[in-house]
Amino acid sequence: MKALIKPNEYFQKSTYEEEKSKLFSQIWNFVGFISDFNQVNDFVVSNVSGTPVVVQNLKGTIRAFKNVCSHRHSIIQTTQKGNRPLMCPYHGWAYNEKGIPFGIPKKPLFSFTNEELECLKLEEYEIEVCGSLVFVRTTKNKISLKDFLGNFYPEIEKMSTNFGKLIDVNEIEIKANWKIIVENTLESYHVALIHSETFQKLGAQGLDFVFDKNNSLWDAPVLVKENEGKQAKIYKPYQKRDYKIDGYKHLIVFPNILISSTYGISFNLSHIIPVSEGISLFKSYVFVTKKDDEDKNEIIEKMFEDSLIHFNRKVFDEDKVICQEVQKGVQYSNYDGQLSDEERRVGYFQEKYKQYIPEVL
Ligand code: FES
Ligand SMILES: [Fe+2]
Repeated sequence: MKALIKPNEYFQKSTYEEEKSKLFSQIWNFVGFISDFNQVNDFVVSNVSGTPVVVQNLKGTIRAFKNVCSHRHSIIQTTQKGNRPLMCPYHGWAYNEKGIPFGIPKKPLFSFTNEELECLKLEEYEIEVCGSLVFVRTTKNKISLKDFLGNFYPEIEKMSTNFGKLIDVNEIEIKANWKIIVENTLESYHVALIHSETFQKLGAQGLDFVFDKNNSLWDAPVLVKENEGKQAKIYKPYQKRDYKIDGYKHLIVFPNILISSTYGISFNLSHIIPVSEGISLFKSYVFVTKKDDEDKNEIIEKMFEDSLIHFNRKVFDEDKVICQEVQKGVQYSNYDGQLSDEERRVGYFQEKYKQYIPEVL
């Protein structure tokens, strides 16, 4: 099968601009975990389809607003995440849970009416939650998060509610278009050469793919079963977990979230955030599932967690290097890409992408 995304769509600025307005503004975008918003005033900032967005717990409800002050345009929450009132750092305008300015220093100097203040409400965006994942959409349309995630909704819900201890957050800049990185995660054809000392050893294999809506899933048996050999001892404390799978599972939440798990014991969520047409931020979270505390062995647990962190980081560094080589290459390619059966999820991703960004003839 021929690839549907043309080489120039990986480096053209105009394609990137189109993606912001026709793709990312239309879909549900992952912005954080429900645990990021436990306390009143906990917030996370995000860039959704080129718009700065703040997602914050305001009086117990999670809300999303454009992160730009209505007074004279400063960014309101200036750090990645934290806990502080929704208050602009420039002149101190404070916003209430509806995004309306309610605390304005030297307020009489403006002589605002209440109606005028309401008109200065921060632009608000829709929020929906699936399991432990929080999503935002910047344009209103009819598709709920449940419809958007389709048949995978229960799987994503179950997987994400079983994310236990967060053991690593790894943020790397990759000099490659976001689609090159997503496509790299959607096929195992590259594993033999790129991950010969890492992922290859897990022995995940096969072509057991499931497709639904914009998303796809790979269910793969692995070489060593969960309770075989040395592993049995490591995994003993996790036996009472809710979510058990036989081997390795990998799914995409279209277009730029990847969730994977081995045995339902370790989980990875990777978020590939476009920064420009040629640069992406790769943010990856590693979790281990909730465990039975009676079976605690801190030394084994620490060794297991360290090896997981090391494994994930090594695999992603290997992918980073090759994705950057692809980014250099696409600028000179005369051919459409070619896709094998092992790359069917890449083809499916491209087909769905084309429904948002059709070919300009
Ligand atoms: S710009 Fe925000 S208070 Fe002045
Ligand atoms: Fe890879």
